[in-house]
Amino acid sequence: MNIDDTLINLVYVIAAVLFIVGLKFLGSPATARKGNLISAVGMLTAVVVTLGNQQILSFELIAVGVAVGALVGAVVSRKVAMTSMPEMVALFNGFGGLASLFVGWAALSVALVKAMSSGIAVDNFSLVTIFLSILIGGLTFTGSLLAYGKLSEKISGRAFVYSGQRIVNSGILLAVLVCAALFFQDSANDNWLYLAVGLSLMLGVMFVLPIGGADMPVVISLLNSFSGLAAAAAGFAIGNILLIVAGSLVGASGIILTSIMCKAMNRSLSNVLFSGFGTVKVSAGPVIEQGEVKPMSAEDAYYVLEAAASVVIIPGYGMAVAQAQHAVKELQGILEKNGAEVVYAIHPVAGRMPGHMNVLLAEADVPYDLLLEMDQINPRMDSFDVAIVIGANDVVNPAAREVESSPIYGMPVINADQARTVFVLKRSMATGFAGIDNPLFFKENTRMLFGDAKATLGSLVKSFD
Ligand code: TAP
Repeated sequence: MNIDDTLINLVYVIAAVLFIVGLKFLGSPATARKGNLISAVGMLTAVVVTLGNQQILSFELIAVGVAVGALVGAVVSRKVAMTSMPEMVALFNGFGGLASLFVGWAALSVALVKAMSSGIAVDNFSLVTIFLSILIGGLTFTGSLLAYGKLSEKISGRAFVYSGQRIVNSGILLAVLVCAALFFQDSANDNWLYLAVGLSLMLGVMFVLPIGGADMPVVISLLNSFSGLAAAAAGFAIGNILLIVAGSLVGASGIILTSIMCKAMNRSLSNVLFSGFGTVKVSAGPVIEQGEVKPMSAEDAYYVLEAAASVVIIPGYGMAVAQAQHAVKELQGILEKNGAEVVYAIHPVAGRMPGHMNVLLAEADVPYDLLLEMDQINPRMDSFDVAIVIGANDVVNPAAREVESSPIYGMPVINADQARTVFVLKRSMATGFAGIDNPLFFKENTRMLFGDAKATLGSLVKSFD
């Protein structure tokens, strides 16, 4: 190894450390921005050193590429609404997968040319890693594009299930492997390679087709993991240590996040991937005994809040839609000034992406130590005078505890119904993402404050004047 190689590997180690420190910082909303920046610096260092070392391109061209990429990234992330973040992540994953496919393909061409001129066949390890980067990269690309289409509602978000889907998908996977094996035998015949690439792209579509509805964010996280695995395979294919490290970090963190989401929904990964949850509106489920809905005006709710000594706020997807986080913070301040203790109860899958509520509340400067997790809040829920449910539905659905035949039975939920009084802020009696009825709305101690959450919170704040 010459001095240049040693130096490059040293820079790679530094970049890898920056990735890991960045990931660690992403673990808390307080340090997440810093973590993002640290990882970005690591990535920039890695890109410049890698391209500079390979001398594939001039530094001027690299600078232009970085500038164009940074500009597109900055504009897109400035413009994207918080509720559309999973769609953007889907696109990022997809293009990451496509990049790995191209890297694998290019590595294959280089290896074949080398083998031809030296007369020594490409070793099996290189061939296998190259094909893995093509296979996983390809399916991640098309799977992510389809996931993007479903999430952004450019196409129907419903799960499309047909009998024998597992057999068909296994068949396609097997066909890719057979094509790869045939190509290894006769690398002069490019058709096997093209067929393998085409089938990998098709597998992505077939993999995501039967998944829909509330399961989409889980699939995005899984595809994120796949994009990491594809990058790691590409790293092996071209012998780039940093790509292996970065790909493995993405692969591992994606799968951990997937497992956390599945756990929070009390589902297994295979149930998410193959059950077709959301194929039909699930509200067909059990007939829940419904009492009377008791609507209440913000003016009347004021009297209860004014007398409350402890209030728990439970936000959900509707708070994101209404962009009500600043209004929530305002109400919190007023209630505290009035002498009440105010905390927030955060469900791990509230909203549409991991940490959705945390990010929104952080944006409104709600102190992190007021955000309590489900396990912390549930044991003391009955001690709260008022629970204010803001645009949450599935994550406070007591059917998960009480109705054995409910599709969400067993899912851990925030037990809002156990507070003395429950205010539910939503626009109508519509179901949440899971499409199932919510008996909370009919409980004796529940009052419905119908309307857009931001407007209702504004009226509540006003009534304290
Ligand atoms: P949901 O159950 O989806 O309910 C959101 C509620 O917000 C709706 O019932 C809607 O009722 C209300 N809403 C919408 N716009 C509103 C507005 N402008 N003002 C007031 N209310 C509004 O939300 P949730 O309780 O947060 O549950 C999340 C769901 O997503 C769960 O089913 C979860 O499993 C799923 N999921 C989440 C994730 C992650 S990582 N977060 C991942 C996978 C799945 P109205 O239309 O009547 O207003």
